[in-house]
Amino acid sequence: MTRDSDLDKKITAKKQLSQEEVLKKRAENIKSMFASIVRVYDFLNSVLSLNRDKSWRKFAVKVSGTRSNMKILDVCTGTGDLAISFSILLNGSGLVIGSDYCHDMLRYGIPKIKKKHLEDKIKFVEADTLKLPFHDNTFEISAVGFGIRNVTDLMAGIKEMERVVMPNGKVIILEFSQPTNVFFRCIYFFYFKKILPLIGKLISQSKFDAYSYLPNSVLAFPGKLELKRKMEECGLVDVKIFERSLGIVTIHIGKKPSESSDLTS
Ligand SMILES: C[S@@+](CC[C@H](N)C(=O)[O-])C[C@H]1O[C@@H](n2cnc3c(N)ncnc32)[C@H](O)[C@@H]1O
Repeated sequence: MTRDSDLDKKITAKKQLSQEEVLKKRAENIKSMFASIVRVYDFLNSVLSLNRDKSWRKFAVKVSGTRSNMKILDVCTGTGDLAISFSILLNGSGLVIGSDYCHDMLRYGIPKIKKKHLEDKIKFVEADTLKLPFHDNTFEISAVGFGIRNVTDLMAGIKEMERVVMPNGKVIILEFSQPTNVFFRCIYFFYFKKILPLIGKLISQSKFDAYSYLPNSVLAFPGKLELKRKMEECGLVDVKIFERSLGIVTIHIGKKPSESSDLTS
């Protein structure tokens, strides 16, 4: 199965398009898909993950090495939950920028930030992860939660995240993965492929079938070690892997080399 194959079929069926045009159309479709589920996005995250999603983000933030006064970027921030978790750990210091190309997702995040009185500490920016509007070496951490899987060029997305972090800064990827235990995997896949899309479709009423896209995109996403290799290919070093919930989600943390090690290597 290729990544986003159903979306691509719909696109290419209409007319013969160049690879670049296919990726552009796919990105537009993904953006529209998220806009179509925004009303129920947070609710369904809680329901479908049996309320584990918050603790997954909290754990990612806990192992991120976040310290006071850091400037942190959360790309594909959606309605801002990972950005909020970072900001809570910063405890009134530093700044978190949440970026996303879907205006509606960001719009839903604003009242959440206000409710937590974090409007001075979290800023939302409408931006494509493949073209971040920030200078090189701006942030101590750039992170992404359940977002990089949707970016149409994975390597380019990781490279952008790496570009905007300072030397010795960290790139953090929190993403769904496939459980390693065979017995648990069978049960989980039954839920993930059969039950979750049904509940998602019923509640979201999304014409994009967003909750079938979810398992398909996770199954097509690189495995844990492959993702680690890809992060290394993008120039990151010391890539560490943390699994949660028997491998349903994985956190990869890579470091941008210091400038001196760049010169010596
Ligand atoms: C599954 S949501 C994750 C939201 C949030 N990070 C969370 O933890 O719930 C994926 C988000 O990625 C965004 N996204 C996908 N591709 C993107 C891109 N190329 N640039 C910016 N945002 C993108 C979507 O708009 C969506 O809000």
